[in-house]
Amino acid sequence: MKNKVTVSAPGKLMLFGEHAVIYGMPCIVTAVDQRIYAKVEKTDTNLIVVNAPSLGVKSYSVELSDLGRVDYPKEVRFVLKSVEIFFRKFKVKSGLIISTKSDFSSTFGFGSSSAVTVCTIKALSGIFDIQVDDKSLFDIAYKTVLQVQGVGSGFDLAAAIWGGTIYFVGGGKIIISLKIEKLPLVVGYTGIKADTASLVRKVGYFYKSNKKEIKLIFDAMKLIVESAKKDLVVGNYTRVGDLANINQGLLDSLGVNTKKLSDLILAARVAGATGAKLSGAGGGDCMIAFSPKSKKAIEKAIEAAGGKILSVKTSAPGVRIEQ
Ligand code: PMV
Repeated sequence: MKNKVTVSAPGKLMLFGEHAVIYGMPCIVTAVDQRIYAKVEKTDTNLIVVNAPSLGVKSYSVELSDLGRVDYPKEVRFVLKSVEIFFRKFKVKSGLIISTKSDFSSTFGFGSSSAVTVCTIKALSGIFDIQVDDKSLFDIAYKTVLQVQGVGSGFDLAAAIWGGTIYFVGGGKIIISLKIEKLPLVVGYTGIKADTASLVRKVGYFYKSNKKEIKLIFDAMKLIVESAKKDLVVGNYTRVGDLANINQGLLDSLGVNTKKLSDLILAARVAGATGAKLSGAGGGDCMIAFSPKSKKAIEKAIEAAGGKILSVKTSAPGVRIEQ
């Protein structure tokens, strides 16, 4: 049993298959080298204290006896729900101080909530000396995320846990690590924070009223993911670009594209990207462009169209104990 454990986990970028993955289809996600850190310390108090300076949270505390009985503030709800579910599942409890830190802003859509959930649960398993294998970690984290935000496929949790680039089927039914040497990506941020849960709900309403048509779209997205899975591994970026463009057209037809995303995507294509699409729920956040060549020109074009270049390395390592 340890008194103090620090864990880190990577953020993520969705490459192909967003939204359809909620409906049982596969997706492909890559972990990025921007990480979230959680330090968990055991105390003799009956309080769980959370510090999350990047979210403006200083010493927010909740009594052990109030875990699961009170509403947690938005900024700390993933951390506290993780603690609540872990304590209940393993019948343990203790006062704790939990401090989180991030390499990236929570507004980018890199998955800070899922990474912090994974970090907290992994750190607790170290503190209480309880063996939790990766799949069990995924299951506990997925339960946490569903209880907090109600919707989600868990792809971001898989990226945080396993790292690398992953072929993923909703709820963790299939998780396959893809051997990809390098991923020539440019990432552009729109400057607009998207609300994933409300976009998932919006697609849900659209699906209900246009079931037959949207089912075909999801089937096409599945085909794209299956093709991309092969073409990414052999590094056929002309074809990967084509698939990105087709995927973008389909996402547009679901109603999750925005003018700003379109501006950045079109700018990237004109500047030489083999293909470009939004990444994640849409509505804002990031776009990605595949670019084996002309990377600088693509970056310039995205900036000229009002985007911010986020320089990230992909296929980053998954969750790990730092100390
Ligand atoms: O907005 P992001 O980057 O968290 O991606 C959401 C992807 C969805 O498929 C729309 C939702 C999900 O949980 O899979």
